[in-house]
Amino acid sequence: KKVVLAYSGGLDTSVILKWLQSTYNCEVVTFTADLGQGEELEPARHKAELMGVKQIFIDDLREEFVKDFVAPMMRSNALYEGQYLLGTSIARPLIAKRQIEIAKQVGADAVSHGATGKGNDQVRFELGYYALAPDIRIIAPWREWDLTSREALIAFAEAHQIPIPRDKRGESPFSTDANLLHTSSEGKVLEDPWEEVPDYVYSRTDNPETAPDVPEYITIDFERGDPVAVNGEGLSPATLLKKLNDLGKLHGIGRLDLVENRFVGMKSRGMYETPGGTIWHAAHRGIESITLDRGAAHLKDELAVRYAEMIYNGFWFAPEREMLQAAIDYTQAKVTGTVRLKLYKGSVNVVGRKSPYSLYSPKIVTFEDDAGAYDQRDAKGFIKLNALRLRLLGQRDRG
Ligand code: ARG
Ligand code: SIN
Repeated sequence: KKVVLAYSGGLDTSVILKWLQSTYNCEVVTFTADLGQGEELEPARHKAELMGVKQIFIDDLREEFVKDFVAPMMRSNALYEGQYLLGTSIARPLIAKRQIEIAKQVGADAVSHGATGKGNDQVRFELGYYALAPDIRIIAPWREWDLTSREALIAFAEAHQIPIPRDKRGESPFSTDANLLHTSSEGKVLEDPWEEVPDYVYSRTDNPETAPDVPEYITIDFERGDPVAVNGEGLSPATLLKKLNDLGKLHGIGRLDLVENRFVGMKSRGMYETPGGTIWHAAHRGIESITLDRGAAHLKDELAVRYAEMIYNGFWFAPEREMLQAAIDYTQAKVTGTVRLKLYKGSVNVVGRKSPYSLYSPKIVTFEDDAGAYDQRDAKGFIKLNALRLRLLGQRDRG
């Protein structure tokens, strides 16, 4: 009877809105999240009103997104397949969570989304829905309807007086998803993995080749694993990420052209722009390098691979993710201090780090006279016992 639709206001979800009304003859409630995608949200309200929607939710979730989703993930240094900072993956659980809250509030019996049956997003949304509302009904129009081509979609829109943006009339050039952390682009011109991404696909980073010829130095302060200030200025989570995005954009930082393995089994080629997130990631590793012990740091790196896979596959609300999160958060107690970074033509490099909890000991590491801080003679036995196995093997196998 009542369904809450995750509604962007774009052509696809507008068609879905109309399709739900006409196919299921149900009342549609729309939910539009502001995750910092940089789009006007009032047009979404207007379009929903035009289609007779009575309950319209438009929520600014930017601070919650960065504080409760991006930051915990960044503490892990997660990268999917070694490179992807998971910008789309980490937004889905929050959208699912808020959508279920709204469904409960308005007494809806179903939720709906605009993800296709070929991708990761359907899995992420729906695992979130089921975790938070075990008996919820899910309607995924892309898996049900017969609008299998762009033309069919446009014809449906025209038949139902849904306004079609001019650039969507022809072939849309590629598919994007954006929020404060990243913009992703997939499909169409990007489908040939041998062809370089054309310049016009980039939307939120300047070309590193034409970026300023003079490097820019910045500092980021961390407290317990989270960035809290840029150049000494304390900022809220979302405004801090926005600030890093501006710096990253200017210097062409955070572009990634990647062929990745989707959870459903296929390979896909995408282009990501994660300007602020790329700086954040580098800075976090910088502060961890002096504040974390080797044992914890190396184990954390191993766990990060698993953690990234959980986020990518949509298991945010799963006990294994929560269990890893607790372990990761535990390691961050003394990840506090300041990192100095150099931004230059697409690169971000840590050039300085300091912390009141630093484990770095110049007295011990120095190549100069250490006044007895470290006894080099200890190393002889250390190496000899480590070599014992190798010597026994050598005697047996190498004669
Ligand atoms: N391949 C990326 C991921 O799975 C990006 C997905 C983009 N989603 C979209 N609806 N355009 O996280
Ligand atoms: C989609 O299929 O809706 C976008 C791509 C993805 O989810 O991986």
